[in-house]
Amino acid sequence: MEKGNSIYQGKAKELYLTDQPEVLWVEYLDQATALNGVKKDKVVGKGQMNNQITSKIFEILADQGIESHFIEKISNTEQLIKAVGIVPLEVVVRNFAAGSFSKRLNVEEGVKLPFPIVEFYYKDDALDDPFINDMHVKVLDIASDEEVKEIKELALKVNEELKKLFASVNIKLIDFKIEVGRDAQGNILLADEISPDTCRLWDMDTNDHLDKDIYRRDLGDLIPVYEEVLNRLNTL
Ligand code: C5P
Repeated sequence: MEKGNSIYQGKAKELYLTDQPEVLWVEYLDQATALNGVKKDKVVGKGQMNNQITSKIFEILADQGIESHFIEKISNTEQLIKAVGIVPLEVVVRNFAAGSFSKRLNVEEGVKLPFPIVEFYYKDDALDDPFINDMHVKVLDIASDEEVKEIKELALKVNEELKKLFASVNIKLIDFKIEVGRDAQGNILLADEISPDTCRLWDMDTNDHLDKDIYRRDLGDLIPVYEEVLNRLNTL
């Protein structure tokens, strides 16, 4: 497989073409951002942590019957993925109150929700990723009703598997964000990454943060925390 030109540089990943049109090459970068890029730092070692964690999680999800764009990890910082057209939605699932949910609705962080909820945010940096509902998704022609139903079902299924997976390494899954894409046949496929950048993970015994809130809230050094998550996942 040959690495081609860079086609997209995101906040924490860079995407390259390959000699196969249906395959892309991803490099996870040593970059941390928060507040839609307003806070930004180089964090040496973060790229390889997130690549390894995401690869491991996508492999486990595939074993449980949840396909994603992930093909294979090709180095500590790189993977091959299926090319998909990303649906411009950040799909958030919440099991416990935290972050923007707590702020917006004045619910204390850590309060268990009676059932998991799915939220949509419109992926648009210029608009600061606004919170939207199913009707906005339809009106903006982001996805059809059928796709919205499918995306919600997928998000909740991923939640059930991730909850089990993290519980087995003594981690509580507070909330997370996924992205989905459409493959060449128009099928909805789980995409992007699943890592401590995109999940809130609390230690089950201590409620210590094992995720990007360490960086967002200036709680300390991010690398040992991400390493802890990777080490725990590697015991599986
Ligand atoms: O900030 P908020 O509480 O809405 O975040 C919910 C979840 O979505 C958190 O796990 C956070 O890490 C993730 N998220 C993300 N990328 C964003 C916004 C939120 O991965 N741009």
